[in-house]
Amino acid sequence: MKQDTLKHLAIIMDGNGRWAKERGEKRVKGHEKGAEVVREITSYCANHPTIETLTLYAFSTENWKRPKLEVEFLMQLLERWLKNELEAYQQNGVRFEAIGDMSRFSKKLQKRIVDTQEATKDNSKLTQILALNYGSRAEIVGAVNRALADGQEITEANLSHYLQTPYSDIDLLIRTSGELRISNFLLWQLSYSELYFTPTLWPNFTPSELDEIVANFEARERRFGGV
Ligand code: IPE
Ligand code: IPE
Ligand code: MG
Repeated sequence: MKQDTLKHLAIIMDGNGRWAKERGEKRVKGHEKGAEVVREITSYCANHPTIETLTLYAFSTENWKRPKLEVEFLMQLLERWLKNELEAYQQNGVRFEAIGDMSRFSKKLQKRIVDTQEATKDNSKLTQILALNYGSRAEIVGAVNRALADGQEITEANLSHYLQTPYSDIDLLIRTSGELRISNFLLWQLSYSELYFTPTLWPNFTPSELDEIVANFEARERRFGGV
């Protein structure tokens, strides 16, 4: 029996580097292929009857530790990707949003992010949120500080409001590549999420695997502490 509706899906897109290594390619090839998969999965979600929000972990606050060339490539890929993606966003009715601290990005990339948000703000089939230089602890600390600066009491409702993701709690979190951890992603919003870990490397992830995972989610019973 169908127990719950999947409205907000979040994905930790992991395994690009290992996918490339398996092929004897440079890690950046995996990121390129991974970006294509983002397009397919976004299109699946935009056409899904219940999914309203798709939050994707694209770059963490810890990913700056990677080699400079890889970080630079990821920034350029994102710039290029957003530019090319605008048409698909409009065609699929996807509103683009971003969370994270983007102040460390180049002015050009920051402008591209803001312009894409602005150009897609009236699209209503799906909201795609990219987590960019995102860290959940930083997000929570920022929310507390903004609430305090406004003279607000710290309550669950207030804190939820001051987070960068005031959209909704996550119904289902998927992590690809077989790693069994959260890596500083959406700690607050995942409190009662269903979790799904698949060994599939992100560049090999497909809409049909997502379809199976969604069916698995729909067969689960969520109790939220009740009976
Ligand atoms: C995820 O793939 C993409 C980013 C974190 C940007 P990885 O690059 O982490 O791939 P693995 O985990 O090294 O295989
Ligand atoms: C998490 O993947 C971040 C993103 C997918 C953007 P990582 O590959 O950076 O995480 P760890 O290092 O395995 O925890
Ligand atoms: Mg990884």
